[in-house]
Amino acid sequence: MEEIKPIFWDDEKGIIILDQRALPREEKYLTLKNIEEVAEAIRNLAIRGAPAIGIAAAMGVALGFKMSSPKNKKEAENIFQHLCRIITQSRPTARNLFWAIERMKEIFGQSLDRGIEETKRSLISAAKSLLEEDLRVNRAIGENGQILIPQECAILTHCNAGALATGGYGTAIGVIRAAWEAGKKIRVLVDETRPVLQGMRLTAWELQKLAIPVVIITDSMAGWFMAQGKIDLVLCGADRVARNGDTANKIGTYSLAILARAHRIPFYIAAPISTIDVETKDGRGIEIEERPEEEVVEIGGKRYAPPGVRAANPAFDITPAHLIDAIITERGILYPPFEDALNKLC
Ligand code: MRU
Repeated sequence: MEEIKPIFWDDEKGIIILDQRALPREEKYLTLKNIEEVAEAIRNLAIRGAPAIGIAAAMGVALGFKMSSPKNKKEAENIFQHLCRIITQSRPTARNLFWAIERMKEIFGQSLDRGIEETKRSLISAAKSLLEEDLRVNRAIGENGQILIPQECAILTHCNAGALATGGYGTAIGVIRAAWEAGKKIRVLVDETRPVLQGMRLTAWELQKLAIPVVIITDSMAGWFMAQGKIDLVLCGADRVARNGDTANKIGTYSLAILARAHRIPFYIAAPISTIDVETKDGRGIEIEERPEEEVVEIGGKRYAPPGVRAANPAFDITPAHLIDAIITERGILYPPFEDALNKLC
């Protein structure tokens, strides 16, 4: 199978992304030619998923700076800060975006004394390395996490934490892949993930490509499947993990964690260290993005709600640490209480 490449750098053209809004109907690549296009692609979900957003952010500032012509160091600093601001205002919840920008700021600070052209080269090379590093990290998460997966089981996952949401391979889906590659007999149930349908459109598409058995269920079916003994564990990705282990992930994740606990089913999070935010004490400090109402009331551009009725659309929720049985990272599996382990890790 040809590996899914959600994002890559092209020296001639710019940043190439697989437009996730068009999947699975169409595999269409977009070329992002400046920082505004990158910020817009993040905002409108053409590229999405915390690690992929981080990579896009890093590539975005590298591209923006490459295109600029600062006359001196001061001007270079102002331009770079401006580029970082444009990107950090695109989406608020995924920690990886801010982590990637912090990395790029370090590189910028270390290279500026060596001249503007050298700074441009260093930023581009750092952004490309971030992508390579994310791929390695995902494989390590997969390797570490697959020991939690029984020899034969049914796994419920939510949203998309696969190749598309990362540099490739995936976090939660990476664990499923690693277990599958180790010869385990796995069936995956994937929540459709209203309102944007990342589960039905993206995760189902990825799993089908990998020939891993997958069945789509609507979000409201999860409890009933658990009650019937048809789910052995729940495995999700994360957008931000606070210092105490509280985890922001796609809206609906919290409900699954409660359902899992009620049915005594393990609930696991798979996330890279770049998603962990030790500066934020607990879930109350995590900003939850509120997205446009249209995502809820419209399907395929057609409104189904009565005219004039408002809709709420928080894109993420917080699963409290006490509902999480383990957090799988590239450096090993963490068990509760998470605070000490997360602090050490970061
Ligand atoms: O709004 P999205 O599609 O960017 O949300 C993505 C998720 O919630 C994913 O589960 C999360 O980013 C983990 S991706 C490895």
